[in-house]
Amino acid sequence: MKIPMFKTCLIALAVVFTGTAFAQATKLTLDLTNSKLKVSPMLYGLMTEEINHSYDGGLYAELIRNRIFKDNANTPEGWSLVQEDTSSHASIKLIAANPNSIPFDEQRLSINGALTTCLRLTVPKAGVKAGVANEGYWGIPVKPSTSYKASFYLKGTGSMMQRRRPGGAPGGATNAPAPASIENNTAGPITVTIESADGKIIFAKGTVNLEKSDFWKKYELTLTTAADVKPTKDARFVISTDRTGLYYFNLVSLFPPTYNNRVNGNRIDLTKMLIDLKSKFLRFPGGNYLEGPDFANAFPWKTTLGPIDNRPGHKGSWGYRPTDGMGLYEFLMWCEEINAEPLLGVYAGYALNGDHVDAGPLLKPYVDDALDEIEYIIGDAKSYWGAKRVADGHPAPFKLTYVEIGNEDWFDRSNSYDGRFTQFREAIEAKYPQLTCISTIADAQYPNLMVKSGKKPAILDEHYYRSSWDMFEWANQYDKYDRKSPKIFVGEWATREGKPTTNLQAALGDAAWMTGMERNSDHVIMSCYAPLFVRVDTATATAPKAWQWDSDLIGYDALNSYGSPSYYVQKLFAEYLGDVIVPITAANIPTQNRPAPQQRPGAAPATPKAVPTVFYAATQDAKTGTIYLKLVNALGTVQPIEISMNGAGKMKSEATMVVVKGQKPEDTNSITEPTKIVPITSKIKGVAANFKQKLAPYSVTILKLETSK
Ligand code: AHR
Repeated sequence: MKIPMFKTCLIALAVVFTGTAFAQATKLTLDLTNSKLKVSPMLYGLMTEEINHSYDGGLYAELIRNRIFKDNANTPEGWSLVQEDTSSHASIKLIAANPNSIPFDEQRLSINGALTTCLRLTVPKAGVKAGVANEGYWGIPVKPSTSYKASFYLKGTGSMMQRRRPGGAPGGATNAPAPASIENNTAGPITVTIESADGKIIFAKGTVNLEKSDFWKKYELTLTTAADVKPTKDARFVISTDRTGLYYFNLVSLFPPTYNNRVNGNRIDLTKMLIDLKSKFLRFPGGNYLEGPDFANAFPWKTTLGPIDNRPGHKGSWGYRPTDGMGLYEFLMWCEEINAEPLLGVYAGYALNGDHVDAGPLLKPYVDDALDEIEYIIGDAKSYWGAKRVADGHPAPFKLTYVEIGNEDWFDRSNSYDGRFTQFREAIEAKYPQLTCISTIADAQYPNLMVKSGKKPAILDEHYYRSSWDMFEWANQYDKYDRKSPKIFVGEWATREGKPTTNLQAALGDAAWMTGMERNSDHVIMSCYAPLFVRVDTATATAPKAWQWDSDLIGYDALNSYGSPSYYVQKLFAEYLGDVIVPITAANIPTQNRPAPQQRPGAAPATPKAVPTVFYAATQDAKTGTIYLKLVNALGTVQPIEISMNGAGKMKSEATMVVVKGQKPEDTNSITEPTKIVPITSKIKGVAANFKQKLAPYSVTILKLETSK
């Protein structure tokens, strides 16, 4: 809808000049004599799930898209035929295994229960290059002096198939006959390249020697780029031959260097960005991804273990098929790599299609599955699942304190969660009394669905996806929570403005909200922003847009990554944090009017609400005396504030100030302009028990104030 210019101006004026805008000075008084409440040591964490290509095409470093050919039953998505000369009539075709087919029929080509669909390359003409190409996840990233580990299962046609079918076409009656000119024996060199998307530039090249055999074999090689290669994502991965024959491919994989060189590991740049967040925990595997679209596709942790050769993948919750390369073990290793504790979500018998299993005997297999999962994580080497973890490469149990039962089970309006939660909690506590179970339904959000039979949950998970106005309005929400009620875990939250990553306005909303959590972090003991990751590529001729959820924290393409303004707010809040909460008394906080929501025609106009424009929280390091004061200015004008400290002792007159700010609320970072909004650190002088500070327009300011003992 178009709004006439003069009306826009009036609205803008109404927003800024309201309430106490010209009243007495804004004043914050920090009471350092009264810092009795502890900041939760787990306050800031991360939440993750497979959404927006967070893992496949994201953190999980695999570069080949559709590596086991199961993304689409009808077509080899991500793959194409490469042929130097179209007169060669080479072709590719998906072959799905049929366990009932006769021996040596092509449709018995499964390698194991997971690798049941392969890609066949038919090459009728010799002496001309023909092969299969993978376009990667919106391109294969090429960087100089980089070694890539390539591997794939390959089977040619040796002699047995031909012996069995003299004169007949290899491939059997169910497939198009191959021309009589095709050679029986495909043995010989196979060329593997990373090359430009048009095939004109070869960035790295290697060869494997295909054996003369009718059986699958896994081939491995390393491809290394030269030092003078210019970084590009306009590249593809190609396996080719110049001999005739039928060539079958499965589990084609290409890994760049990973963080810590971990096999099947994670992208280095993204891992470093996560380490910088200093998060205390990682909530996984979801989100909707935990639940899955239906019962059969809840996160299948058992089939995500062991070699990737045994992982069939599954139907995800966000419209694409996860490889499960990021399996349970990889989640746990990820936690270790970023020094975060796992916070495990266990599937609780509710699927996104609305199906649920009632508490009782039918739910028992699900409870047992969760107990097995926990045993994998913390069981000793003598336990069945603990021994599997040891075999997978991690002898010591991982750390685990919190287990969340389900995700957003408030969608299950049958009210079955109450009984389901209790059944899970009792079984988990009986076997692992050291663990605390979190209810995914919070009393404050869903009073009609909350857990009320059995023991009260110790921790409730609240989720908030809000606008910046909502965040400003509700930033003081936790000031009012009853301290005798269960502790709060804000397991998903975000200010949803800007896409694919959030903008400055969202970061202001986030920071305002975080001051409220931090002030109350004796009660709000954990929190994590969501979603964490977004692949930012838009649709191409062959691949859809990469993301499903707007407004995410960290954006990336094949080559580069960047943090949104919200990312920097997360980073600063976790970095500049004491261990006790400093009570603050505020006076004369200016307000602005939140525009009233549009009413239905004929309804009385709603009145706008006055919401604060300055937000604040302070914590102190009990040992060093350092005070961390966080301040948010939601207005586009400078706001001066007076800061007083009761009982601070002697203050150092110089302090560190870190500011995230911009010119306008829509300012943002992007893949092409990744550092438009980043924290700026400076020194300020004149700090004392009473001092004045100006808050820049649209800013988040952190003051690190030192006391001299
Ligand atoms: O974070 C995106 C989605 O929002 C999560 O998968 C779900 O838990 C919530 O509704």
